[in-house]
Amino acid sequence: MKRTTDFLQMKQNGEKIAMLTAYDYPSAKLAQRAGVDLILVGDSLGMVVLGYDSTVPVTLDEMIHHTKAVKRGAPDTFVVTDMPFATYHGEKGDTLRNAARILQEGGADAVKLEGGGEVADHIAALTRAGIPVVAHLGLTPQSVGVLGGYKVQGKTAAEAERLLAEAKRVEEKGAFMLVLECVPKQLAKLVREALAIPVIGIGAGAECDGQVLVYHDLIGYGVDRYPKFVKPFADVQTEIVKGIRQYVAEVRAGSFPADEHSYSMKDEELILLYG
Ligand code: KIV
Ligand code: NA
Repeated sequence: MKRTTDFLQMKQNGEKIAMLTAYDYPSAKLAQRAGVDLILVGDSLGMVVLGYDSTVPVTLDEMIHHTKAVKRGAPDTFVVTDMPFATYHGEKGDTLRNAARILQEGGADAVKLEGGGEVADHIAALTRAGIPVVAHLGLTPQSVGVLGGYKVQGKTAAEAERLLAEAKRVEEKGAFMLVLECVPKQLAKLVREALAIPVIGIGAGAECDGQVLVYHDLIGYGVDRYPKFVKPFADVQTEIVKGIRQYVAEVRAGSFPADEHSYSMKDEELILLYG
């Protein structure tokens, strides 16, 4: 399994880091089999798996529950779990307890949290307590209500400067990795060059130290509309619907199950049964 220092080393060597979300046993198993460098149990869970219309309703217990399943599926892959909405903004002791539960009960190797200056002291406290932290800047979906929608962040010089300062701040506070979501590629490049820690982009262009995608977006599973930054690398939903349609048709036609899918009694038992 790769560790925090390996990701730093990968950046230094110019090796790109491939990160993918996973939410359950099969998705984690397949992500590990395909060789991703690390898995994110994202709170995108709420949207792509649980059907909420934002990440706000996701609870700490849900994140722990799904992290356990992911770790069972990918025991040899570094797993980062999102701290969900409003679980790292109060007392630092509460933040610490919440993150500790994600590691101790869930089995995650690190936590991720959204924001810069406003959570800087929480990043420092977690790191001091021995909990590796991934920071997340740019579009931070837990703040969708404040941001007024899912929009590209840091498009003006002033906004970009502010974001760059926040990126330096979270690095200073101890984050070992930064996820940058939905920012102009030019800004991502600046951030990547300014930081020693790896910068993982999603909707942030190619000039990052690595990329992260949502599992369901990557394989085309239950997705109706792809954001601009997603490339669907597979289309499993078409295959799934095709398979289910065939099943329904064969049940209705009586052609499934066939003899080969059925169990049988021996003749002598049948004779006893019928007398
Ligand atoms: O929850 C998530 O999947 C994420 C990634 C989009 C970075 O935070
Ligand atoms: Na997230």
